Amino acid sequence: MRHLFKKGRNEKAPVLLLLHGTGGTEEDLLPLASMISPESSILTVRGNVTENGMPRFFRRLAEGVFDEEDLKFRTKELHDFLDHAADEYEFDRQNIVAVGYSNGANIAGSLLFHYKGELRGAILHHPMVPLRGITLPNLENAAIFIGAGKNDPICPPQETEELESLLQGAGANVETYWGDYGHQLTQPEAEAARDWFQKYYSKS
Ligand code: MLT
Repeated sequence: MRHLFKKGRNEKAPVLLLLHGTGGTEEDLLPLASMISPESSILTVRGNVTENGMPRFFRRLAEGVFDEEDLKFRTKELHDFLDHAADEYEFDRQNIVAVGYSNGANIAGSLLFHYKGELRGAILHHPMVPLRGITLPNLENAAIFIGAGKNDPICPPQETEELESLLQGAGANVETYWGDYGHQLTQPEAEAARDWFQKYYSKS
């Protein structure tokens, strides 16, 4: 997959896996990553599908209606890519924290839904429920931050609450930040993600 890897100063800090929103690129979330954990290594990936020229991590049939077969295929593709990237760049595969926005948060959610031990944690900005009707793996070791908007038309509050309870039901430690705005990632939400990250991982 098209990607960038930037080695950080602190090899013990979680490696941040950056996953952009629809129409984004692997460059988009770099400023957010340096705010969240300036010493971390960064692996940032571009989605492998395009919709009218816009990169995405999986196909959708309409806004908010996912092509589930493609979602499963692309989730495995990203999972396999992470295995290879950990070998190639010599980082600890067990020490990845995903940072995703919108479509990128949805594929990060799908990684959590499909694979045990896939991510040490995740910062999900405006995620949806990626898939329904599957049994989640045990997520007791995963810490998850959800950034949500009370007026998000793409991800309404009840869907955020559904995702929160599915992840908690699998044992994950979930914290949700509620902003007053819509689908956009605001500065206060980014600061809340940074504070959450520092609370969990500052000792590593
Ligand atoms: C998705 O397709 O993943 C969601 O609708 C959010 C987005 O527009 O990227």
